[in-house]
Parts: sequence; structure tokens; C-alpha cells
Amino acid sequence: MSDKLYIGIDLGTSAVKLLLIDEHGTILNSASREYPLIFPAPGWCEQKPEDWWDACVSGMQELLKGYDASLVDGIGCAGQMHGLVVLDENDRVIRPAILWNDGRTEDEVEYLNGVIGKDKLSEYTGNIAFAGFTAPKLLWMKKNEPEAFARIKRIMLPKDYVNYRLTGVHACDYSDASGLLLLDVKNRGWSQEMLDICDVRREQLPHLFESYEVIGRLLPSAARAMGLPESTRVIAGAGDNAGAAVGTGTVHDGSCNISLGTSGTIFISNDKFAVDPVNALHSFAHANGAYHLMGVVLSAASCNKWLCDEILRTKDYAAEQTDITEDDLGRNRVFFLPYLMGERSPINDVNARGTFIGLSMDTRRQDMVQAVLEGVAFAIRDSFEVVRSLGINIQRSKLCGGGGKSPLWRSIMANVLDIPIDIPSAEEGPGYGGAMLAMVGCGKYNSVAECADALVSVKGTVEPDPVIAARYDAQYRKFRKIYPALKDIYPELR
Ligand code: XUL
Repeated sequence: MSDKLYIGIDLGTSAVKLLLIDEHGTILNSASREYPLIFPAPGWCEQKPEDWWDACVSGMQELLKGYDASLVDGIGCAGQMHGLVVLDENDRVIRPAILWNDGRTEDEVEYLNGVIGKDKLSEYTGNIAFAGFTAPKLLWMKKNEPEAFARIKRIMLPKDYVNYRLTGVHACDYSDASGLLLLDVKNRGWSQEMLDICDVRREQLPHLFESYEVIGRLLPSAARAMGLPESTRVIAGAGDNAGAAVGTGTVHDGSCNISLGTSGTIFISNDKFAVDPVNALHSFAHANGAYHLMGVVLSAASCNKWLCDEILRTKDYAAEQTDITEDDLGRNRVFFLPYLMGERSPINDVNARGTFIGLSMDTRRQDMVQAVLEGVAFAIRDSFEVVRSLGINIQRSKLCGGGGKSPLWRSIMANVLDIPIDIPSAEEGPGYGGAMLAMVGCGKYNSVAECADALVSVKGTVEPDPVIAARYDAQYRKFRKIYPALKDIYPELR
């Protein structure tokens, strides 16, 4: 009998990436489809859920070309987190999804953290409010679009919209549900207090599952559109960071994964639920049934994309980095604050903005490129320092995401954090993790850890250099002074 096949979907912010994987974990094929972002106002960011679905359908057709689709056993999707998707009673999308990096909810965040209070929020959910989280968006909609708010029948997250169109089941997994700020993360159930605060009814919310649990099989219409058998099982899936952690094997207590995607994240897998004293980090459920801590930089690889695409007008990102040598590392006099969409961890400031500082007449193009890569690494170190302050000793980390493909950026990360960075053989973090979760859900493995131990390997390690790491330590101390000095100016720039 032929091997079974599994499909992993990474529903990202710039594109959806689909992977076809055999039961030994070998990637047989991949396909990708981009979709547009909508910026209705500075700092706002939306996407059309229907675009995600169309991209998935057309990507799937390409993915399966030349393969026996009848062998597909399961699908797992890991998606961009926190996006508010709302459907009416006819299952029509009420308004474009408000994404994870949208900063319109300043007032609502102030209300939640200030009036309800951070202590209460942390008690109810394990987290405080950040602008990108879903609950403040619901409050924003209630205030600014009351008629549309009144028509909401179902509330869902981006990957759950895809799963809903695949199966007709309104489901969510605990890792992604953590980012709604409606979940009691520790106890893995909805927080009635938060539902009351946000005027949300339980029946509007999805059924909750572990990430690897099967939520259903394909609807006939979805099976036809995608060219898949109706018997294909769909698992609940995960938020993209938990999915990426699974895909890079970050499933054991204390292990760490860094992702340099549109956002940049540092993710620490925990067997037990933990919170930091000021909730600077997110305390979320993991896709393996346990928990994680996470720091989120809102603009990571997107800063480099912005610099290259919009300012330097080039698509050859690698060429921009070729003149930057080891000797340049830790010696840049130009600094960059990567706050192009405001910032989440640990400063929680929607008004912060991208900033170059230290420019002089001898500043070269390559210095500015280097400053962007370094600025993102320093911002990730900000969260790394919070993790350290909790007594968690991170000895090494995996790295994934588009930015992680750059040898220069890998080296900057290793030296800024002063830890070895392991490069997994399959760098397609969330998509690979989605397929792995599907294998667990379909019974191929007994647990996520067993699956990760069997399938994930490391193809190389970037070691920090003590001299460069020391230079970066001094640079980081300067970086840390820049934001506090500028903090009060940002709101005036709006
Ligand atoms: C995590 C977050 C981002 C998105 C990006 O809290 O907001 O990493 O999930 O897709």
C-alpha cells in the first residue's frame, strides 16, 4: 500500500504557503500564493478572508498536480494569529479581517489595561491587552461599527476561517485561541469575565480543541474545489508561532525558537503554565498540549522588505548584504528602531515608529541595511532579556522564517543573543508544523513530541564569536537608550 500524504498550510500575512509531505516527513512539493494587505489608515492593517480561501484553493490545485490526491490523509493549518474574522448568520464575512499588526485599538487597550486593570486581565487570561489582540478589536467594532457588531454570528481567527470553509466546523485550537484574550489560558476554557467585558456570547465563539485533534472531514464542496477526497481529515491546527515551534522541534521544556517572518518572535516551550510579573511576554497555550512564553516584534523581515522594496527599490535582498563583512558586525554607528507598525513586546506602544538614528555624511547604503537587520535582532533581545530575568536560561535556539535564510542575519542573531543558533533541516516552520500536527491527529504518531523527535533534524549551527558578541553587547546597551529618549515624541508624529 502506498504511503499516506499530509498537507501543511502556513496562512501567513503576505502569502499562504502549502506543503505536501509524505509520512516520513519528506517535503514532496510546495506552492505559494500571495494576497494583498489593506492599510485603511496609518497603523491599520486588514485583509479579506475570501482572499485567503481563494489562495488556498488555487495553491492546493498546484500543490497536488502530478500526485495521487487520494492518498492525502490529513490537513493541518497554522495561521497568522489574532486577526478578527466575523461572519453573519448567512456565513458571510461582515467586514475585512483586522490583523495582528493593526494598531487602531489604542483606546480599547487603555480601557482594558487601565479601567478593567492589568491584574484582572492577567488573572482571567494570563495576559494583558495589546493592540493586536482580538478582544480590543471586538470592543473597537462595538463602538465604531455597532450595526455590524450586532450582526456577528461567529467570531473566528484567520486559520479557523479556512478550516470552517474546509469542514463547516467552527473550531479553534488553544494556541491560537490564547491570542483572543478571551481564553483562560491556564485552564484551557473561555473566561466568562472576559466574555462579559467584551459583550461576547459563548455561542459566537468556536469549539475548542487541542491543535492535533481532528475537527472534521472535508465538505463535499471543499473536496471538489481542492481536488481532495472527502475522507481527508482536518485537524484544529495552531497559531503560526506554535506551529513553527512544532515544525522546528521546539516542543520540549525550555527549548527556544526564533522566527524572522513578517513579525519576529522568540518562543519558549514550557511544560507548565508561567507568566512574567509584568506580562511583557505572552503566556499562551502550545500546540503540544502544554504552554509557551513569547515575545513579539511586530515588524521583522518586513522591515528589510520595506527598506529593499520601497526605499532601495530592489528585489535582490541578498545583494544588499554581500558587502557587509564580519568586521562590520558590532561596529555600526547607525541604529534602527524597527517599529514600523508600533511595537508589541516588551514596550507595548502603538505610537512607536521606525527610526534611523546616527546618520552622517559618510553613512553608506550597506550601513543602513545592516542597521535594519541589527535593529530587529536588538528588539528580539529586548524580549530575550525579559525571559532571562525570569531565571530561564536559554542556551541555544532554532531559527526559522524568511529572514532566517540570510547567513548574515543568522550571524547577527547568534552574536546579538550570544547563543548558538540551530538551523532546522526543514525551515518551513508553520507549514511543516501544521503537517506534523495532522500526522499526530491521524494517528501516525502518539504525541507531538514523538513526531518532532522522529522528523525534525538540524542541518547546521551558527556559533557566536566572543569578540563580535562583546561588541554587540555594547551596541545593545546604546540601542536600549534610544526608544526611551524618543518615546514622548512619537504620539506627536501621528
Ligand atoms: C503573534 C503575532 C504574530 C502573528 C504573525 O502574537 O501577532 O507573530 O502571528 O503571523
